[in-house]
Amino acid sequence: MKPCEIKDGIYWTGAVDWNRRSFHGYSLSHKGTTYNNYLIKDEKIALVDTVAEEFWGTLQCNVAQVLKPGEKIDYFVINHLEPDHAGSLALAVAKYQPEKIYVSPMGQKAMDAHFHYKDWPVEVVPTGTEISLGKRTLKFIEARMLHWPDSMLTYCPEDKIVFTNDAFGQNWATSERFADQVDRSTLERLMGEYYANIVLPYSPVVLKLLGTIEELKLDIDMVCPDHGLIFRGAEDCKWAMEKYREFAEQKPKNKAVIVYDTMWHSTEKMALAVASGLAEEGVSVRVMCMKNNHHSDVMSEIRDAAAVIVGSPTHNNGILPLMADMLTYMKGLRPQNKIGSAVGSFGWSGECVKILNQWLEDCGMEVLEGVKVKHVPDHEILGKCFDQGKAIAAAIKAKLA
Ligand code: FEO
Repeated sequence: MKPCEIKDGIYWTGAVDWNRRSFHGYSLSHKGTTYNNYLIKDEKIALVDTVAEEFWGTLQCNVAQVLKPGEKIDYFVINHLEPDHAGSLALAVAKYQPEKIYVSPMGQKAMDAHFHYKDWPVEVVPTGTEISLGKRTLKFIEARMLHWPDSMLTYCPEDKIVFTNDAFGQNWATSERFADQVDRSTLERLMGEYYANIVLPYSPVVLKLLGTIEELKLDIDMVCPDHGLIFRGAEDCKWAMEKYREFAEQKPKNKAVIVYDTMWHSTEKMALAVASGLAEEGVSVRVMCMKNNHHSDVMSEIRDAAAVIVGSPTHNNGILPLMADMLTYMKGLRPQNKIGSAVGSFGWSGECVKILNQWLEDCGMEVLEGVKVKHVPDHEILGKCFDQGKAIAAAIKAKLA
């Protein structure tokens, strides 16, 4: 995609990766992603972030289309060192030879550990630091652990624009550049998916950052993330921030996710009976078998659910591996405010529900009594599972009251 002037003298010079399908285990819903970066032309010219290394050629091409003969990039601003944004940094330093590379205090450490540079003109810019580009100012706000220690936001008051790196991003490869050009419900879903799979454990940091933006009274009418669509206009920027507040607060909805794997369908029958009990009481239910669903798609559903019901038969004194994968993934993302419960069948040793309950406790969930059965559930056991669903529904109702 060609560069795009997003405000007078400020250009998107990023790359669209139509074919990316995974970020270290986070499946991208077949939507790809973008690596946004931005070139600000003033008396000094600044490049905000780079792109993944495989798109270095695209970045050079886009920058060449924006710079006039004799112009050069003076400054780099590196908001985040993860290789999807800084993967081209060493190549860019060699080619453009910037006077300064601005980076957060933790960013300097990450930059050193990634690139082992000796003579780069790095300048550390803690929160509150300002630099002048001529007519414009850039102000830096550290956002440690959103979602790496080095993460930083860059704000330009004259243009009311904030470059937010991963925050407010969505993995969505599009020819459009602005959020007001695409379907809003898809945008919201993909923002939520990104949040659930990348940002969720750092929700307290998000709330703190939103508070800082309010305290600093930043006037914002453009939010430029490094993935996906750009928010333009005060109303859309406010929408994006309110979505992040909603995601970060993790207030559950009247919704339950049942995630399971099954060997010979006994656990599956139990899971479906729990679903019926929940639905009977008006809870919106998602039933997701790990044989057919990626763990990140399950996590996207779990984000705003009030209850997570997990199911697995006992397998070699443990649980089935696809469930172990799911539970490991979920525990790392630390979802809050959930009720948990478990079901499972067994042949002889029968540890499944105990093991699943331990995982739920480790995730900080309020664990309700589960149901287990030897080999195949009969009508009575399925009735117990149905009642388990109703009991979970009652707990959800109490939680949401
Ligand atoms: Fe999009 Fe944390 O990198």
